[in-house]
Amino acid sequence: MDIDVVTLFPAMVEHAARVGVTGRGIERGIWRLACWNPRDHATDGYRRVDDRPFGGGPGMVMMAEPLAACLQALHARRAGAGLPRARVLHLSPRGALLTQRRVAELATLPALVLLASRYEAVDQRLLDTEVDDEVSIGDYVLSGGELAALVLIDAVVRLLPGVTNDARSPQCDSFADGLLEGPQYTRPEAYRGTAVPPVLLSGHHALIERWRREQSLRVTLSRRPDLIEAARRDGRLSRADEAFLRELG
Ligand code: 6GU
Repeated sequence: MDIDVVTLFPAMVEHAARVGVTGRGIERGIWRLACWNPRDHATDGYRRVDDRPFGGGPGMVMMAEPLAACLQALHARRAGAGLPRARVLHLSPRGALLTQRRVAELATLPALVLLASRYEAVDQRLLDTEVDDEVSIGDYVLSGGELAALVLIDAVVRLLPGVTNDARSPQCDSFADGLLEGPQYTRPEAYRGTAVPPVLLSGHHALIERWRREQSLRVTLSRRPDLIEAARRDGRLSRADEAFLRELG
């Protein structure tokens, strides 16, 4: 997958993306990152990319022209290599909430362009003409889209085949099946007087699977009952699951 990020702070994105699982994905050639700075496409001599909002009010607005020129340059690079135009996403608290389902859909695309804006806003005409979708990572406000872009990159890249060492781990995640993950334990068997749940030492795989499913149901019911409702609606709960939930009361 090719990911192009438009940002006034390329170092922030480059640096963070090259660490950990996402960094390993780059080293393995599974995805490629390129950052583009709209300041390099400013139309005046001062590398200006923002201006005051028409109609007045606080804050600044990112100007359409430098962003459009920047996007044109990155689209041209793909076109020159014979590649199809990439989907352009603007990270914005006005966007649709990012969910694991959306992340999984994005992970199937060959290329993404992420527009990480700063200041209070982006000129609406740029959004109307150059952006395909707006995505938010939660109901709170960040000072810029870079951290949101990095969140999206991390969530998407870890699903790409070959990035995680164990191909099963993304399937076991919280949310992968719409429920939260239950607890996990490692050595020692007793820690400050608390033993590991004995079933995990039993070697009985079917029992362990059932226990894990029940822990997942228990945690999800107590923390995110909305997710239990959604799983029920979509027919993702078995009769054994329903029986266990009834036992929980
Ligand atoms: Cl995607 N961008 C910004 N600037 N703030 C946010 C956000 C995105 N998602 C939540 N808050």
